[in-house]
Amino acid sequence: MEHILQQLTSLGAEAQRALQGAANQAALEQVRVRYLGRKGALAAILRELADLDPAERPAIGKVANEVKQRLEAALAAQREAIEAVAQQAAVVAERVDVTLPGRPVPMGRLHPSTRILRRICQIWSDMGFQVYRSRDVETEEMNFELLNIPAHHPARDMWDTFYTTTEGMLLRTHTSPGQIRAMRQYCPEPIRVILPGMCYRYEQITARSEIQFHQVEGLAVGRHVTMTDLKGTLVDFAHRMFGADRKVRFRASHFPFTEPSAEMDVECIICEGQGCVVCKQSGWLEILGCGMVHPEVLRNGGYDPAVFSGFAFGMGPERITMLKHGIEDIRYFWANDLRFLEQF
Ligand code: FA5
Repeated sequence: MEHILQQLTSLGAEAQRALQGAANQAALEQVRVRYLGRKGALAAILRELADLDPAERPAIGKVANEVKQRLEAALAAQREAIEAVAQQAAVVAERVDVTLPGRPVPMGRLHPSTRILRRICQIWSDMGFQVYRSRDVETEEMNFELLNIPAHHPARDMWDTFYTTTEGMLLRTHTSPGQIRAMRQYCPEPIRVILPGMCYRYEQITARSEIQFHQVEGLAVGRHVTMTDLKGTLVDFAHRMFGADRKVRFRASHFPFTEPSAEMDVECIICEGQGCVVCKQSGWLEILGCGMVHPEVLRNGGYDPAVFSGFAFGMGPERITMLKHGIEDIRYFWANDLRFLEQF
């Protein structure tokens, strides 16, 4: 009996040391199997109990149990200690240095034409106008005839045209054909719409003229729409767009689809009306064409000109952007030069 008790005591001490010496979970598991496993050292000693005198067994069993419990407690403690060390190592290894400067994220920008189009649409929608989308590929009839520009009319010279290979189809030279489409869709209801979109002209490209450019058309039709409405509405737009103090003026003009017709100028935003190269020393900048919808055009849209009247206007956003930012050449807009685009 003494012999077994001694064996138990020295096994307990030895196992305790081995447990405490295990540096990681794998080593710890090996120690556990060696001493506490089913085929381990402690189990081997306990098997010897069977050969003992039954009277001695309880005392030895008690000691064996105590040794077992102590070793299990030591095993759990060591497991936790190893885990804590591993966690601490992970915290150090995975630490984020919050003082490191971030990597710059490249930021995209809206194209200057998109920006001005959004601004213009915002102002008109604040004033109660809906955005009406019309097509880029148009019929000759919509683009010209129904707008009072018959074949061979000298006004067609104003719009040198990209024709498609399909007879009678072309790339719209202005957004005005959308007027007919909107009228035909809404007739006989009153209308207040703007029509933003790309236009195409087979023109000589110069600092002021591109072969493709945006326009924003406007159209109001109702029973009592007057020239006063046209002027008041456009002056309000100019003040929202360029500032409440900006002076504006109307000049008589001619468009085949409006009568009377006018052009609106704003006081030069570069020189404040003093005269500079941008306004050609006049102190004024033209920003749009406008007029009362011609009775013939109203009729083509389905409205009776004896009952209904309307006004229309058309402006060029790229030209407005050029004025606002003092850009001398319209060709920058589609040249895709980042040095230009990044300034917006
Ligand atoms: C028209 O196109 C008329 N449809 C406008 C209109 C609508 C008048 C409704 C009356 C009632 P105009 O050809 O002037 O008009 O063009 C209007 C605007 O488009 C110009 O003021 C200018 O800002 C812009 N624009 C015209 N041609 C070009 C071009 N080649 N490049 C850039 N912008 C242009």
